[in-house]
Order: sequence, then C-alpha cells, then structure tokens
Amino acid sequence: MIPISTVRLGPEAERLVLEVIRSGMIAQGPMVARFEREFAQLVGARHAVAVNNGTTALVAALQVLEVGPGDEVITSPFTFVATLNAILEAGATVRFVDITEDDFCLDAGALDPAVTARTAAVMPVHLYGQCADLPRIAEVTRRHGLHLVEDAAQAHGATVDGRGAGTFGLGCFSMYGTKNLTTGEGGVLTTDDEALADRLRVLRNQGMRERYQYELAGHNYRLTDLQAALAIPQIAEYPGILAARQQHAERLTEGLSGVPGLRTPRVMPGREHVWHQYTILLTDESPVDRTEFVARMTEREVGCGVYYPRVAFDYDCYRDHPRIAVEPVPTAHRVAERCASLPVHQYLSAGDLDTIITTVREVMKA
Ligand SMILES: Cc1ncc(COP(=O)(O)O)c(C=O)c1O
Repeated sequence: MIPISTVRLGPEAERLVLEVIRSGMIAQGPMVARFEREFAQLVGARHAVAVNNGTTALVAALQVLEVGPGDEVITSPFTFVATLNAILEAGATVRFVDITEDDFCLDAGALDPAVTARTAAVMPVHLYGQCADLPRIAEVTRRHGLHLVEDAAQAHGATVDGRGAGTFGLGCFSMYGTKNLTTGEGGVLTTDDEALADRLRVLRNQGMRERYQYELAGHNYRLTDLQAALAIPQIAEYPGILAARQQHAERLTEGLSGVPGLRTPRVMPGREHVWHQYTILLTDESPVDRTEFVARMTEREVGCGVYYPRVAFDYDCYRDHPRIAVEPVPTAHRVAERCASLPVHQYLSAGDLDTIITTVREVMKA
C-alpha cells in the first residue's frame, strides 16, 4: 500500500528526546521555548506560542481576543470539525459562508453580506496547505473592525504574496501526527503582537505569570519539551520537505491532466501551496462516483483519503444547534461529495508517483 501519510523521525529527534529525558524536565521548558523561536522564524512571525493541540490553539485565539457568548465568528463549512468545535467551545455563534471551488477555501467575495452587528471575527481555513484569499479577507476584516483568526492547521509555511500563513491575523497551527510538521499532538499560535503573545502565554499556564500570581482565568494548554524535541529537526529539514511535496504535486498534476472526469488541484496566483493534501475533484463526466473511486484505489493499494466527506455541520449532533447559523453553502456540499486526496508526502519515490498516476488513470477508465 502506498500510504496517504507517513511519519519518520530521525536520529536528531532521538538525540533531542534523550536530552530532554536526561534533563529531568519533561514538561514545558527550554525545548518548547526553542521550538517557539524556530517556528516563529519559519512562519515569519515575531512570536510563536506553543499549545497542546491545534484545536486548543483556535480556542485560545478566540479567548485571548475575548470573542465569546453573543459574538459571531464567520468560517468555512468545508473543514475539519475542530474549526467548528473550537468556536462553540469559546461560546460564540458560528456563521458559515460558502467556499470557492478553485481553492476550497472561504469565499472572500461572500463575506460582506454575512457580516452582522454581532460578528466579531472571521476564521478562514487554509485547507490542504493553500492559504485562503488572505489579502481580500484581511481587507474585509479591517473595514468592519473584525478579528482575523487563521485556521492554518494544515498550512505550515504556506504564503500569499510572499507573506506567511499565520501572519495576516492570529495564526493557529496543528502539529498532529499527520501534519507536514508534527509533534504527535501539538499546536502553535503566531502573531506579531507582543502583548497578545504575552497574554497567550499567561492563558495557557492557568492564567499565571509568577508562581501562584493569577492574572486571568486560564487553562492548562501547555506543550511538553518531549513533544517540542520531535519538531525541532523537522523545522530544519522543512525546506527540503516542502520542495519534495511541491515536486510530487507537480508530477501528479502533469500525469493526471487531461483525465476525463477529474480536476487536478489549482494553485492560485501569488500563493505558495505546501501540499498537506493533494486533492482532486470528480466532475460530472467522471465514470465513477467518489465511493467507487476510493474503493478502487484502495483495492489497488494506493492510499486515498476523503477530507472531508460532509460539510462540518452536517451531522445530527449539530442539527438545530442554537449557536450554528447556516447560510446555503452549495459549493461546499458539492466539493465534499466529490473530493479525494492522493498521497503527496515527501517519502514517495518516482516509482510510487508513477503507480499513483497509472492507477488513477485505470480507475477512471471504467
Ligand atoms: C483544518 C483543521 N483545523 C483544526 C485542526 C485541529 O488540530 P488538532 O487535531 O491538532 O487539534 C485540524 C487538524 O486536525 C485541522 O485539519
């Protein structure tokens, strides 16, 4: 089976983990601080604040900005459910705005009519490793005086016009096991605002700056040094990881272009895609539906993922939720029914890429 994602941690990660173990300080300590410095540099932000997962990063972002009960947050319906859960956890109301089929991200052109007197923040999701249209979204948030919280869980190092994901607004990244950069479980927030970074550091530590001196009602959102040690070598290797993912995506697009019934992913002008996922769309001409496509790929031992099979709110547990405001989102529904992701990770060989291409072509013939 060619897997959709693979994790390999090398000798430098082993060395750093051992260093942490031998230091006797395995909770949050100097390795987390080092990880934060290096992550901030990677993203191009002045500050990075590590937390225990990406969902926490989103919740902490809303909490630190004091977005909560009575406020609305506009986001994308085509996302991992964590985006929705984080807004609900913060006590705010979720308002969904449709996506564009070009980039699978929040439609910047549809934002203005969705802004109400209660809107406090916009939370675009940089799905699959490509940023949403941040310049246009930031223009809308500026004009309406709204917070911009980026769900950059899948977009470490992605850029728009040379500027990093997580630097337009308050950036929220995930370091979950399948992400381009991983600590198994982990998250990071990024910002240029020193006061905000300071409040986040206090918030993640039970609201405590000095021992038993509490400044706000906080939480335990801390990452551990053991986890941070895993990420540090990956940050150093990241340019090579990205170059491999980008080359693989180019090879897939070249090999799959012209296949009837299949649309390859689009990279929008000015945006650098970091290829967390390589996601195709099955069009009306496709001879197979998505279920059949995935079954046939799996049968032929090529990993194929569906991210995500339904829009985030389309589950019984969210139906008639008093804090979910749903506008019609036809593009998101359509894309959720027709998307499928193929392996694009850095460990694929030229032979793997050929196999993926040949297999897709075969499956799409029937
Ligand atoms: C778009 C998106 N948002 C939020 C999250 C939440 O991150 P985590 O799983 O680290 O809590 C994820 C990752 O799983 C994600 O893909």
